Amino acid sequence: MKDMARTVRDYIRTIPDFPEPGIMFRDVTTLFSDPRGFRIAIDQLLHPYAGMEIDKVVGLEARGFILGGAVAHQLSTGFVPIRKKGKLPGQTIEQPYQLEYGEAVMELHDDALEPGETVLLVDDLLATGGTAEAGIKLIERLGAQCIGCAFVIDLPDLGGRAKLEALGQQVHALCAFEGD
Ligand code: PRP
Ligand code: MG
Repeated sequence: MKDMARTVRDYIRTIPDFPEPGIMFRDVTTLFSDPRGFRIAIDQLLHPYAGMEIDKVVGLEARGFILGGAVAHQLSTGFVPIRKKGKLPGQTIEQPYQLEYGEAVMELHDDALEPGETVLLVDDLLATGGTAEAGIKLIERLGAQCIGCAFVIDLPDLGGRAKLEALGQQVHALCAFEGD
């Protein structure tokens, strides 16, 4: 395929049976490592938000850091990480969320956002929406407002978009993988 005709979706590699049999893993490392792929992904992620008042971009560990850092740079905002429990050095607030098997906890520094600040949430992939929902709750608990949630990949079969929209969130995804 001619390079200029490739979409963001075309740069994503699918690895069957990872991390366990039956799972089709959508691997964004091939998107990130391609100069054109990475650039069009960042451009398209921030496109709906150009000209909006955004104070901070919040990235979800781990791949949301790679995307969120580039988006924050481009929008000239600060960047704030939401991390898995035990990684942030300062005072944090915690939010549990559901994994396929069991529970995990995300953390945010309790002084990372000011009340009233507007935030764009960024991650690589939206599946059940549990991770992003935890992120939104953390942002809102500090009194900030999540004005959008941007993802490279949506897996609509897993219901994440519906879950976030039911919370009143605007969801922006660059591509979808359905039916497997
Ligand atoms: C993956 C992905 C999203 C999350 C989406 O992260 O990067 O963050 O799952 O799933 P959900 O919508 O069902 O919550 P993972 O938990 O594998 O961790 P990682 O990004 O640190 O690898
Ligand atoms: Mg993740």
